[in-house]
Parts: sequence; C-alpha cells; structure tokens
Amino acid sequence: MKYPPHILDEIRARLPVSAVVGRKVGLKKKGREFAGLSPFKTEKTPSFFVNDQKGFYHCFASGEHGDIFSFLMETEGLTFPEAVERLASEAGVSLPKPTAEEYRREEQRLRLHEIQEAAAKIFEADLRAPVGAEARAYLTRRGLSEETIRTFRIGFASPDRTGLLKKLKAAGFSDAELEASGLIVMGPDIRTPYDRFRNRVMFPIQDLKSRVIAFGGRALEADQPAKYLNSPETPLFHKGHVLFNAAGARQTAFDTGEIVIVEGYMDVIALAQAGYRNAVAPLGTALTPDQLKLLWRFSNEPLLCFDGDSAGRKAAHRALDTALPLLGPGRSVKFVFLPDGLDPDDLIRERGADALGKAFAASDPFLDVLWARAWGNGEWNTPEQRALLERQLSEQVGKIEDGGVRTHYQSAIRDRFYHAWRAKNQERARAQWVSDRSQAGSGSRGTGGGWSRQSGGSGKSAPKPAPSAALRSSALVSNEAAADADLEFAILRALVMHPELLDEMDEVLVALDFRASFAAQGLQTLLEYAIEENPLDTRHVRSHLHTAGMATLIERIGLQSKDQDDAHVGELSSNAGPGESGSAIVRRLIDRHRIGGLKKELQLALEDFEATGCDESLAQVIELKSVLSAMETAEASPDDAFTP
Ligand code: UTP
Ligand code: MN
Repeated sequence: MKYPPHILDEIRARLPVSAVVGRKVGLKKKGREFAGLSPFKTEKTPSFFVNDQKGFYHCFASGEHGDIFSFLMETEGLTFPEAVERLASEAGVSLPKPTAEEYRREEQRLRLHEIQEAAAKIFEADLRAPVGAEARAYLTRRGLSEETIRTFRIGFASPDRTGLLKKLKAAGFSDAELEASGLIVMGPDIRTPYDRFRNRVMFPIQDLKSRVIAFGGRALEADQPAKYLNSPETPLFHKGHVLFNAAGARQTAFDTGEIVIVEGYMDVIALAQAGYRNAVAPLGTALTPDQLKLLWRFSNEPLLCFDGDSAGRKAAHRALDTALPLLGPGRSVKFVFLPDGLDPDDLIRERGADALGKAFAASDPFLDVLWARAWGNGEWNTPEQRALLERQLSEQVGKIEDGGVRTHYQSAIRDRFYHAWRAKNQERARAQWVSDRSQAGSGSRGTGGGWSRQSGGSGKSAPKPAPSAALRSSALVSNEAAADADLEFAILRALVMHPELLDEMDEVLVALDFRASFAAQGLQTLLEYAIEENPLDTRHVRSHLHTAGMATLIERIGLQSKDQDDAHVGELSSNAGPGESGSAIVRRLIDRHRIGGLKKELQLALEDFEATGCDESLAQVIELKSVLSAMETAEASPDDAFTP
C-alpha cells in the first residue's frame, strides 16, 4: 500500500529523530544537533549526528544518511511499510483506511497466512507423532539437535495422500483457500484433490516477520523423483523475492554486518547449529536481483558461498553476472569456494565449524572472480587474443550501472592488464633467452643478442653470437654491474626525450627488469602513461611525471628544463653512430643493461659450478659468456651491430 506524503510528514513531526535513534544510540546534545557513536561503524569518537529540526541523521563514518523510517530499515532490517506501521502506531497517527478491494485482498492474505501457519503446526506435530518416527531418525542421523528442529520449526508431511487436506478442511479452510495455499493439489482438471507434500521432511519458509509463507520438503527416500519439492508461487510466496531464514538471520547479520548465502536448506540449518546464525539460502533457483537487494539490506558485502566444483563455479559466475550491474559505492559481494565439492553442511560434519570459518575468512573479492573467470578462459599470447580479452572484460565492466564504481573497475582492470602483459612478456623474453643460449656458439656473429626476434619485429632471425676469448676471463664476472642504476636512468632519460619510443618499443620495455626500484617505478609510470594513449611528447611526459609525484626522478635524470633537454639531445647524438636513431640509442642502452643482467646470471652459474662441479652449470657458464661476448662486441661497434 502506498502512503500519502502528508501522513509520513505527520509521523515525522510527532517523532523527533533523536527519540527514535536515541533508543539504539547514546546521544549527547551538541549545539543544535545530537552526536553519538555510529551504529553503522565501530568507532571511538562520535561521527554520527542527528538534527531534529531538519529531521535527519548523518553518519560521517559510513556516509549513511536518512530519516526515522530509514533508520529502522537500516538498523533493524524492516521494510518501508513495516517501519511506517511501527512508527505510525508509536506516534498515534492512524494510517489511511484501505479501499474495499484492498481490504478484501488483505483479508485473503490473512487467511493464507493462517493456512500456512496451520499446516506448519500439523507438520510439526506429525514429526513428533508415531508416523514421524522415521523422519525423526533421519534428522538425528543428520546431526540435528532438538533445539535446532524447534528453532527452524522442522516438521513432517505424512505419506497419507489426503492427511493434510482432511485436517485443513476440518479447521474450516475453504476449497478456494486450500487451492490458493499451494499445499493441496486441486483445480478444475484434478479429479480428486491431494496433498502436495507426502512423506517428506518439511522446512517452513518464513517472511521477514517470521510468518510461514511456504514450504520446502525433502524426500526421505533416495529414489524419489524430486529430492526437494517447494511450494508453488502463491500470493504470499514469490520464490525470487524470498530467502530461506532471512528473518532468523536478520538480527545477527545486523549485529555483525555479515551475512552468508549458501545453496540449501540443510546448509543454513547446519550453519546455524554450528553458531553461524546469519546464513540464508535461495530456494532452489539462481540468486535473483531482488534477493541480492535483500542481502544488501543486511550487509554491504554479503558472502556468497559455493561448492568448489565446476557446478559451484558456474553458479558463482551466474551470481556474479546478476550482481555486476548492481554494484554500488561500498556495496559488493564476496565469494567463498568450498574445498573438495563439499557443501557447508558436509564440511561442518567432516571437518568441523572451524574449517568453515577458515573458508569464510579466505573469501575472494568480486574483482578477483571477475578477472579469474575471463583470464581462465583462454590463452592470451597474440595481440588479437589480448585485445579480445580486453574487450570482453571492458564489456562486462561496462555493465556496472554506478559511474563511480565503474570507473574504479576500469582502472583496476587496466592495471591488471598492464601487469599481466608485463609478466607474460617477461616470461616469453626469458624463454627466448634460454632458446638463444641453447643455440649460441653456432658460428656467425651479428646483431646484439636475441632481442630483435623477441620484439617480434623483422621476422628475419638474427645470426648467433660467437664466443670471445677475452670474455671468458673471470675478470668479467668480478666487474660487478655497478652502473646498473645509471644505465636505467639513462634509458629513462632517453625515453622522456623520445616518448614515441614508449609506444614503438613497448614490448621490449615491458620486458625490462630494472633493478633500481626508483627507476622501475619510473618506467612503469611512463608505460602506463603511454598505454592510456596520452600525447607522446617530452613536455607532456615531463608534466605527467610531475603530477605522478616523480619530480625527484626528473631531477635524477637531469631533465628539469628545456636547456637540459637540448644539452642531452646533443650528448645523445654525439654518442650515436652516424644516422643512429633515437630507438637505436635506446636499444643500445637496453642491450648494455641486459649485459649487466647476464653478468649476474653468469656469476650465479659460476658459483653453482664451483659448488657442484656439474656439467650443466659449466655449459651454462660457457653459453652465457658467449652471448655476453657477442653483445659486448656489438656494443663496441654500433655501426656493425645495427646496419643489416
Ligand atoms: P542439493 O541437492 O545441493 O541438496 O540442493 P542439499 O542442500 O545438499 O541437501 P541434502 O544435504 O542432500 O539434504 C540444494 C538446494 O537446491 C534445491 C533445494 O533448495 C536445496 O536445498 N533443490 C535441490 C530443489 O529445489 N530441488 C531438488 O530436487 C534438489
Ligand atoms: Mn547437503
């Protein structure tokens, strides 16, 4: 029913916010407002304020803001009509009389509530009667205590085809009411009406006011066509809007700020018995948007719990797609995958409640599951494949309706791509080196090392470097790559001066393993800048480094001003071979950098050889030396190295 605004205003006028809020929160008068500790966040200094004149509360800790109605909805999980009813009766405001039609429908609903309640009582009684002996034994076998059975009002539907029908008729319910309840199968095309639930353990499904609105029934025997049978849709029961145990879980969920959703009735019940009373379940269907919204009334980040098998993963992905558009500031879901195909009920029985607690604590954030699903879906080696993955994820993220959340997802995903491609490229570069080294020493000398192929450029395979006697000496090893950092800054300097190289040489640059972390950070910043398709000229790059908080880096590479740029252009071109381009210079610096890395590898191989004396490490030493020698020779004569 819709409430006229003037009625709501009347209630607001009679009940100051401080009075309603003051029952839950200790408030102190502060000027025109009241202050207290936030009911939404644990805190030591008050950041929760109430203003009676304006009729609202505001929480600076959590951003929650609202009036007396929303306060009850937020802190007690009431629906809006529930909050209105409660506060109207407190304020002595009478709500408008329903129309005759509304009145009739209300009456009918009341009768339907009565019939569900009557059935629940009959099922509970039958569980305790002789006819329920087998069902009782079953529940005991499944480890349910008497207390749990009472709390959840578990019952038993007798095998008698018309047992419930007779009792409900005797209690005065009409045929129309029996049919509408969903408990009795009847109608124009049914000759003799009969009980829908027979020989089943019965789980009452309750609404948020703990009124029974439907049932789930579990077959006692394994060979039944349906293990679980649920009530059909009725005026009281819309599967997709209801969560099993929502009323039972509500208070604990509010107190702890946590709620967990599992797959089945028995999981909810086993969890409650193990002390997790804030568990709910959908009713044999995938999670719906309405159910998610209900969950979010209890907790900002409900935990969705699934079996760790492929069916569980599928269900999780479906829930992920349902939640995606609905994510909001501070509002998400987390995923828990249970080990070894166990459901929560199995897990508690086999490994104890602590094992489940551990699984809950190790939940996966939404972003991780979104990313893992896409990433696990293929090989991402070629540019086409990578572009496909990027498009898939960007389409998915595009479904997030909230602009703020969407923007943050976009940048988080970009960040992941950057790191993923970088890691894959490094892996490939490493593999390339291994294969280069295994082929090294085969004869002709030529361009500096394997990197022309690694960059995927020419298609022409580079000739193999030859060993050099001079480089086999151990002097090379003792000559530590002390100039690493200098070299790294020189590369950065060249990149700032020729930013187009960030784009041209991205694959090579991404595979670079800078040792000075300051320089590595600088390189990453530059690459990210280029990936985002920003203007590639020195002035823009430099100002980006400034805004990215890397002014020190600019100083370190000596590019604070235009004069210095010019000086370095001079310096670089004086270092360059005739006609050597910016990219050739950078390549040469990179090669020089790589030589440093190879020397370190060589050092390790030598140490290994000294320690073990094994042939393999000796072979590695020889190989490394030969590659190094070729690179250093090329380095010494750039003309030779870079002209075909
Ligand atoms: P499961 O088949 O996983 O059963 O169904 P369970 O919860 O582990 O039950 P036990 O432990 O064997 O008793 C999970 C949920 O799916 C719905 C029910 O809501 C059930 O709780 N379901 C399952 C049905 O609606 N119909 C079925 O035939 C089976
Ligand atoms: Mn189970």
